[in-house]
Amino acid sequence: MLRQVRDRLRQIPFLHNSYMRVKRRLSTELLGMTTLTEQKYLNVYGQNSYKGLGEVVDLGCWLGSTTIPLTNGLLKNSAFANSGRKVHAYDLFEWFNWMETSVAGTGLYGKYREGDNFVDEFRRRIEPIADHVEVHAGDLKQIGWSGDEIEFLLVDAMKGWDLAASIVRDFYPSLIAGQSLVFHQDFAHHFTPWIHLIQWRLRHHFNHVEEVPNSQSVVFRCIKQIERSDIDLDWGFDLFDDDSVDAAFAYSMSLISNEKQPNIAAAKVMWYLHQDLKAKANTVFSELVTEGVPLDGEMRSIKEKLSSL
Ligand SMILES: C[S@@+](CC[C@H](N)C(=O)[O-])C[C@H]1O[C@@H](n2cnc3c(N)ncnc32)[C@H](O)[C@@H]1O
Repeated sequence: MLRQVRDRLRQIPFLHNSYMRVKRRLSTELLGMTTLTEQKYLNVYGQNSYKGLGEVVDLGCWLGSTTIPLTNGLLKNSAFANSGRKVHAYDLFEWFNWMETSVAGTGLYGKYREGDNFVDEFRRRIEPIADHVEVHAGDLKQIGWSGDEIEFLLVDAMKGWDLAASIVRDFYPSLIAGQSLVFHQDFAHHFTPWIHLIQWRLRHHFNHVEEVPNSQSVVFRCIKQIERSDIDLDWGFDLFDDDSVDAAFAYSMSLISNEKQPNIAAAKVMWYLHQDLKAKANTVFSELVTEGVPLDGEMRSIKEKLSSL
């Protein structure tokens, strides 16, 4: 219900700005593209579940709404606090106009122009925990990873096939079998359908652990070491035929609660829209509605998108 109100308000900028201002005042929510449930999840994970077996990596940290609660939690956990480790926070730190919606009603609204660097703002926000965060500023495709074992990998940067493939190739082999978690912040976001194909393709290497309520995040555990031969593939749309796409989305749908079903269904439609296959996208949309997916969340927005094409 709250999500529906928020989705509607998003379409009316003045009301959306006021809503965001009031919402932040009423909660302890940090400014970011995360929900309070995600921020709490990360904090609790850091405090109670991290074991000190490997590094903690935050891909696509933006203004720190993941980095801050995660690090604060970790600092209450002796497995991290006494380890000398740092949270590895990656971002381009380059402002894009689409980010404005998420800073509506704050002092950051209108502060940056497209292309401006905002790493100083990130550093300002993480100042109290700065000694425990290693900032990797720039294109993660070029920066890559040291190869050290990773215990917790937060992914909010699989924004295209290039980034997704690079994250799989550079970071996934460092996951520790039986231990490491991958926190996919975009799992239930319609724009990133490749995440479903990747997780399906690597389904024998991961277990679904849980999802974060009232968010788009879903958590997996690596259960089998990912070898180079598993991932040295030509990742892209052409790697998957329609049967694989059906299987991948059926797999994802089977893992998650009703709350996230419409968004995952919308991601399936988006798989075809990204390839400009409008007729196929329309067919898939109709099939999903016939199968009973409610016209809720991002299924509603994808319907509007389809009718505007
Ligand atoms: C959706 S935003 C992240 C929001 C953040 N996780 C939060 O919840 O507040 C995605 C982030 O990915 C970053 N990003 C996009 N392409 C990148 C790249 N090539 N290398 C590193 N970061 C990138 C963007 O700068 C952006 O901050």
